[in-house]
Amino acid sequence: MTEGQSARAGSGDEGMKTRERNLEKVMAGLQHQDLSTIPAVLQRIVNVSQDAKAQAVDLAQVCELDKSSSARILRAANSAYYSTRNQNRVGSIREAIVRIGFRTTQEIIMSAAVCNLFRANKVIADYSSTLLWKHSMFVGVANRLIYAQRFGESKLDPFVAGLLHDVGISIEHQFLFYDGFPEAITKRQENQSLLVAEEEKYLGLTHEEVGRQIAKRWNFPEHLVAVLGHHHSTDAASVEEQRLIHVTRLSELLCFEMQFGYCDFSESYSEALYASQERLGIDDESFLGLAQQLKHEIEGLTDLGWFSDLRVRRLS
Ligand SMILES: [Fe+2]
Ligand SMILES: [Fe+2]
Repeated sequence: MTEGQSARAGSGDEGMKTRERNLEKVMAGLQHQDLSTIPAVLQRIVNVSQDAKAQAVDLAQVCELDKSSSARILRAANSAYYSTRNQNRVGSIREAIVRIGFRTTQEIIMSAAVCNLFRANKVIADYSSTLLWKHSMFVGVANRLIYAQRFGESKLDPFVAGLLHDVGISIEHQFLFYDGFPEAITKRQENQSLLVAEEEKYLGLTHEEVGRQIAKRWNFPEHLVAVLGHHHSTDAASVEEQRLIHVTRLSELLCFEMQFGYCDFSESYSEALYASQERLGIDDESFLGLAQQLKHEIEGLTDLGWFSDLRVRRLS
């Protein structure tokens, strides 16, 4: 679809047809494109993260499914961030897992797998895959910090929920690029609106709906279906899901305030996100403390090269 053509999804029956056609296209695309290892890695790592008895050997096995995560784990284990000057270099994944810890390893495997979803890189208005990737990593790290501070450790794995919350956008980017995706992105910036509102108009469906459908397709647990599918609308069945959604929204607010990566909303919506801060009972001083902690963590990840892998190509 060119920019001159009417890109609107329409309303009523026409809108429904557009929605169904685009959803089918996404689902068919996910089956046929070379994304086959991603669901397998995601499913395995989500299962491991839910299993209290999981051990280093289980994580090492997941690494075998995705070689890029092995390289990242070794790099992290031998970096100044995780090792002291007197420590020997580690050469095996098992040793690396022991050094950097179970949780960090999980996060690296998950991030390396998800990073592959952000390959189709073009700049459209204020959006690019790299910027969305940065946003996703930021929200993942922020989710972990906020959830731990407010509710303690959780088996729901708030990092994973944050990392994946906007994955529907990158799926739309890959499979609906000629069906209205650039128009929705461009109009969001022009109108300073919410991306979900522009997606409704130009794609007939939203990244929340796409996220919800793929989370179900990939057999993710219910709390992930809730966050991928409801982080803007805040509909959730259980108290735990509600908490996770509000934590994710507060992470989005921090990301917006710190201007790190792409945000699918603008100033007026950020006001609504303060309600999540209130709901979580996080005062302004704690909010600033979280921002400081996040700055430190994100600098560490930047030093490890997490945000330099993807090349940005300008849309012609
Ligand atoms: Fe987001
Ligand atoms: Fe979103």
